[in-house]
Amino acid sequence: MRKIALSLLISCFSVLGIHADEGMWVVGNISAKVDSILHSMGLELTADELYSTEHPSLNNAIVQFGGFCSGVVVSPDGLVFTNHHCGFGSIQSHSTPKHDYLKNGFFAKKFEDELPNEGLFVLFHIKTVDVTDIVLGAVPQGASDQQKYAIIDSVSTRLMQMVDYSGKGIESEVNPFYRGSKYFLSVYQRYDDVRLVYAPPQSIGKFGGDTDNWMWPRQCCDFSVFRIYADKNNDPAEYSKDNQPYHPMQYAHVSTQGYQDGSYAMTLGYPGSTDRYLSSYGIESTMRTTNDVRYQVRDVKLNILREIMRNDDAIRIMYASKYASSSNYWKFSLGQNQALDNLKVIDEKQQLEKELAEWAAQDTVARGKYIGITDSLKALYAECYPMLYARTLWSESNSDILNFVIRNSLGRRSDDFQKAVEKAYKDIDVETDKKVFLALLQNYIKHAPNGDKYLPTGIINKVDSLFGGNYEAYVNDLYSKSIFARPDDLKKVHDFDEVAKDPMVEAAMDVIDVYFALRKSNEWERAWVIEEYERLLGDGIREMNHDKEYYPDANFTLRLSYGLCKPIDFAPGTTGLKEEATSLMTTPRSFLNKHEQNPDNYDYRLIPEAYKWMKKGKFSKQYLDKNTGELPLCFLTTNDITGGNSGSGMFDGKGRLIGLAFDGNWEAMSGDLKFDNALQRCIGVDIRWVLSVMDDYSHAKRLINELTIE
Ligand code: ARG
Repeated sequence: MRKIALSLLISCFSVLGIHADEGMWVVGNISAKVDSILHSMGLELTADELYSTEHPSLNNAIVQFGGFCSGVVVSPDGLVFTNHHCGFGSIQSHSTPKHDYLKNGFFAKKFEDELPNEGLFVLFHIKTVDVTDIVLGAVPQGASDQQKYAIIDSVSTRLMQMVDYSGKGIESEVNPFYRGSKYFLSVYQRYDDVRLVYAPPQSIGKFGGDTDNWMWPRQCCDFSVFRIYADKNNDPAEYSKDNQPYHPMQYAHVSTQGYQDGSYAMTLGYPGSTDRYLSSYGIESTMRTTNDVRYQVRDVKLNILREIMRNDDAIRIMYASKYASSSNYWKFSLGQNQALDNLKVIDEKQQLEKELAEWAAQDTVARGKYIGITDSLKALYAECYPMLYARTLWSESNSDILNFVIRNSLGRRSDDFQKAVEKAYKDIDVETDKKVFLALLQNYIKHAPNGDKYLPTGIINKVDSLFGGNYEAYVNDLYSKSIFARPDDLKKVHDFDEVAKDPMVEAAMDVIDVYFALRKSNEWERAWVIEEYERLLGDGIREMNHDKEYYPDANFTLRLSYGLCKPIDFAPGTTGLKEEATSLMTTPRSFLNKHEQNPDNYDYRLIPEAYKWMKKGKFSKQYLDKNTGELPLCFLTTNDITGGNSGSGMFDGKGRLIGLAFDGNWEAMSGDLKFDNALQRCIGVDIRWVLSVMDDYSHAKRLINELTIE
């Protein structure tokens, strides 16, 4: 397949309806070759309408949302669609047991009711410039790694400083691509007043919860709505009640025309991170020293939280967001390991590495630098294994209070200690934290690699000498004596130094010592050498297959992924209607089916209003699918997707919004490390499901009226 000429490749796409479309292409650096693929597959926009530095183009409607998600601007008054799980933290922060927006949803009936969110921002992409020659050109031959990175750092900083800082929220970033073989400068405009406008009830927006997460078939209406505000000149400004809705230079039109099996689909958004060129040894290491560890520790923590949250509304709201983000990658870790095994990804990588070795051996002069890479990687990963394992274990094992104290002890103090306390403790319940602290401490000690350097010996000695080895007694004593377990008293403290002798600080110091020991270890340094070999391996593979166009790994810069609307031939379809596992979109029938057939599953519970509405099934006619006559809920495309893409606009060939991307599928959870052509899918929420929930369920006419619906 790899060597098939372009024209043949194109006809394959259309005639055979090829399955999945690997690639996250850099918007602003799309090659003619990729551009012609886009158009042959069904894109009708010109390259200029997609991305231009001269006039408004579709890329100007895409935002990076809050540093963790994507979003799309959909109205001349700055309305932004993103996922429900992206808006989750904001929705939570405004929720109380009395005004439970998580549970019941939220709709601002007028502009003044839209809720500001401290710290939430969006970035608009302005342009992307290839600066590889400038950055790497500044590194002299023979520079050491250390010198090299110092030079790259200072050149990048200078480049960023040269970007016009007009004070209008312009900011820029130089990012390494292909692990530093290339560098691009991205320029953004940042808006800091972003308000919550609408959220569906969680039982609709997050229907299926952890049970369905990372899986198809799916029914959740994973969207929420925000609005960007600007000053009276339409320029970025900090929150002020005098700010006005922002008028964007471009906003996306919405289509209720739908799609069919084989229709063009394209996502635009901010994929966070993939490691598709990672070596077989790197994959093995990820499985054992990241995924296994993360899954194990989070399992302990989430079991404790789940129990408490279900029995207490206030605590449920407090921990909702932390729980969701922790459980998201808890399940991911399990799924990624399973898929890596099932799809034999390590074998496949080893085969590729073997090919590289053979290719390099054919010309030892020109390709000599690629010889022996895998042996070096094997040895390096083996050497670093305990350190990498301990590093993940350490970073996963601290309770919220401990983390807060660690951050402050390390000098990363906010100027305003009281404000920091206020913010952190808003979402901490001390009794819950204490349970987590004890469980994670014992779990850490049980699972830490052999060797004192990985253990908090200060704490262990104390437990042994003062508490007869009883960890619970130690933790009870700690929490009874520490001011960090008494939020009301802590809130009166002005400066961290006043409490620096607190027993919780002492505990934090013991824990920090372990981290410092890790950092000082030889293996920590060696992990950097791994990076260099991994980069070289990627370079070698690209050079060996120089006729193939490689996209760079995701790094949270604006990317385009092209593909088709396409069901998956097989899917386990563990829950819900079996036939929907292999269909292109899901329906209200399968939504109700999941709910009704699984009365004991918390993830399928509905608030009564939502149940009544779905059961009645009176959806506006314009939102029904023309072919099936049913309301389409979620759908599948072959677009390449990873974390960070959440909230990405999904567009048809005319550049109209047909959905919002929100997930990937279980069968291909290895996707961040190796894209699977047959199995990988992007799961999106159909825009007609979004519109119906806003319009039919919430009667949010004022928002619907802002959109341009085609
Ligand atoms: N797996 C999705 C992502 O990483 C999150 C989906 C949120 N839904 C959920 N049930 N947790 O973006």
